[in-house]
Amino acid sequence: MTAAILSLADVSYRYPDGTQALNNCSLTINRGTRTAVLGANGAGKTTMFLHLNGILHPSAGHLLWEATPLDYSRSGLRTLRSRVGLVFQNPDSQLFSASVREDVSFGPMNLGLTDKIVRERVEEALHAVGMTESADKPVHNLSYGQKKRVCIAGVLAMQPEVVVLDEPMAGLDATMQEEFTAVLERLHGAGMTIVVATHDLDFAYGWADQAIVMRSGGVLACGSPAEVLMQRDVQDELGAVPLVAEISRQLSLIGIDLRDNGYLPRSKSELLKAISSHTRQENTP
Ligand SMILES: Nc1ncnc2c1ncn2[C@@H]1O[C@H](COP(=O)(O)OP(=O)(O)O)[C@@H](O)[C@H]1O
Ligand SMILES: [Mg+2]
Repeated sequence: MTAAILSLADVSYRYPDGTQALNNCSLTINRGTRTAVLGANGAGKTTMFLHLNGILHPSAGHLLWEATPLDYSRSGLRTLRSRVGLVFQNPDSQLFSASVREDVSFGPMNLGLTDKIVRERVEEALHAVGMTESADKPVHNLSYGQKKRVCIAGVLAMQPEVVVLDEPMAGLDATMQEEFTAVLERLHGAGMTIVVATHDLDFAYGWADQAIVMRSGGVLACGSPAEVLMQRDVQDELGAVPLVAEISRQLSLIGIDLRDNGYLPRSKSELLKAISSHTRQENTP
């Protein structure tokens, strides 16, 4: 059974300069699910994320953890931040220690855990993102992709229930993006709830259980990626379609049905497999 872990109910937020960044924004993240948040630049994704771990407080409306309104007291915020880990878009705004290991240790050390547990958590987190080998390197010598991984490790070492990543794929090459998807899959497999802001429709279509499309600080559409990303108004808003879905749709228009047990391909590799198995069937007398 899926149950709501975090939700926004009619949240509005205005920055001190008067910009209305969220406007009656309502959405629900279910425990253990993968959510992709899409939307043009300025749609409010980052502002919404900053609400999820209490960095920003709504000007109106409220957030719920499970069914309980967030507690913005010092101790309430401490609890919230141990549950919800936020990975910022720019790794340089998150990393501040000299070495990789030091940086990843910082969060768990502040939880008041024993040195032994901190060490275990740090090694585990570095392993999860494939950075064990670089543990003693100075942070400033790392590549952009490595820095991003260290940021994720820093959040994982806190063992949060929800990991929120703001455009984690931006600035990564194709191989790194694939590795990254594998990291996300491992976290999901371990039972974490994952929320990712992305401009990559193909990734959202193939990876997410839920797609949320934001526009002007509100939610334009929300549901399964197959439903949401094939909506006309969503495609107009995002200016793109998930390629795999569009190819499957175009093929179905000329009578080629790629469905396997009712499921359409969700990734490039599934698409290629479906096409070649279809071709084989066609050629079998
Ligand atoms: N610190 C800030 N002060 C004032 N306005 C901001 C600030 N950060 C973002 N905004 C504005 O809030 C709106 C939503 O921005 P943002 O949440 O960053 O959207 P996204 O992440 O979808 O690109 C935009 O109009 C943006 O210019
Ligand atoms: Mg943003």
